[in-house]
Amino acid sequence: MTMTLPDSIRDRFPLLEHAVYTSSCSQGALSVDVRAAYEQYLADWDEKGAPWELWVERAESMRDRFARLLNATSDEIAVTTSVSAAVSSLLSGVRHSGGRNKIVMSDFEFPTIGQIVHAQELAGVKVEHVPATPEVTISLERMAEAIDEETSIVAITHVCFRNGSKTDVKEVIRLAHEAGALVLLDSFQAVGAVPIDVRDLNVDFVTGGTLKYLLGSAGLAFLYCRADLLPQIVPTQTGWFADEDINKMDIYDYSPSPTARKFESGTPPIPNIYAGIAGLDLMHEVGIAETEEHVGRLTAQLIDGLDRIGAKMVTPRDPAKHGPMIAVATTDQNAMVAALAEDRIVTSARDGNVRLAWHCYNSEEDVEAVIAGLQRHSELLAR
Ligand SMILES: Cc1ncc(COP(=O)(O)O)c(C=O)c1O
Repeated sequence: MTMTLPDSIRDRFPLLEHAVYTSSCSQGALSVDVRAAYEQYLADWDEKGAPWELWVERAESMRDRFARLLNATSDEIAVTTSVSAAVSSLLSGVRHSGGRNKIVMSDFEFPTIGQIVHAQELAGVKVEHVPATPEVTISLERMAEAIDEETSIVAITHVCFRNGSKTDVKEVIRLAHEAGALVLLDSFQAVGAVPIDVRDLNVDFVTGGTLKYLLGSAGLAFLYCRADLLPQIVPTQTGWFADEDINKMDIYDYSPSPTARKFESGTPPIPNIYAGIAGLDLMHEVGIAETEEHVGRLTAQLIDGLDRIGAKMVTPRDPAKHGPMIAVATTDQNAMVAALAEDRIVTSARDGNVRLAWHCYNSEEDVEAVIAGLQRHSELLAR
C-alpha cells in the first residue's frame, strides 16, 4: 500500500518524534536528507581539500533546481545568500527612467523589502505604501489607485509573514502591467508550500529562500528575473561571481554576466547549497502541489478547531486568501509561545499573534494537539 502525506515522509524528520512542529514559517524542520548533505559537504572538504570545481558545479545545479521549481530557465535565476542581497542587487540596477521613479509596495512586506525600497529614496525614488484592509488583505482597489504612469516597480508579498494573508498575485500583476509597471514578488512564505509558475503568473521578478518550506538552511536564496528584462537591468551592487567571465579575474572593467547571474556577488554559500539541493530534492519527491493540498486540509481542520474553542484567528478564513500559516490573536504572544513550548509544541509569534505554520510533515494529530494546547492556555487567547 502506498502511504500518503504525512506518513510517507514523517520518519525523515527526527524532530517530529518528540515535538509538534508548527514553525515552518520561521525554519523548516531538519530532515535526515539535509543532515546527510551537510555531512557530505564536510566529507568532500575533508577528502578533497578545496574541490572548487565540484563546488561551483553544485552551485550551478542549485540554479537549475531553482529554475525547475519556478518553471524558469537557469539563465533567469541568480543564486544568492539572502532575499536582501537579491533585492538590493536588483533595485541597484533598475533605471527609474522615462518619468517612472516611483515604487509601490504593500504594507504586508517583510522589513528587508521596506528598508531596501526606502533606501532607493536616496536616489530620488518616491515610495507609496498600499495599506492593509480591516479584513487583513491588500485591497486591489487601493493597489490600482497607487499604481500610475510614474510607477516603475510594484513590490508585493505572496503570503504575509505576520498574518498569513495571501495576496491575489495574478490580479496585482495584471494591474501593474496595464499601467506599464513591473512586479517584484517576495515568495519566501509561500515557496515550497505553494506551487509557483513564473510563466503562468507572468511575473517579472520573484525572490525567496530555502530555509522555510524548501527545507534547507539559512544563507541561500534566489532571484528570478524574466529573460527579456535582463538587458535593461545593470546592478551597481555586484561582485566577481556576477562577472561575465569569472575566470578572467579582470580588475579593469565592469562587465556583468548577461544572465541573471549578474545579481550575484561573492563566493557562493557552498554548505547551504548542499543543504538546499537536498531540501529541494526532498520537496520535489514529496510534491509541492500535494503539499499545498495536504496543508489546505490541515488549515481547514485547524480553523474548525479554533472556532470550537472560541479562538480569534487574524488570518483571512477564505482558503484562497491564506497560505500555510494561520495567526491566532493572543494577549501575550511570548507567554503563549513559551507555554506551548512546555507542551513540546513549537510555534513562533509576530504582532501579538501566535503563528501556526503547516507543512507536508504535519499530521491531523498535530492539529488536534495544537488546538488542545491553545485551549489549555486559553487565558492567553485574545477574544
Ligand atoms: C517574506 C519574507 N521575506 C524576506 C525574509 C528575509 O529574507 P533574508 O533574510 O533572506 O534577506 C523573510 C524571512 O523571514 C520573509 O519571511
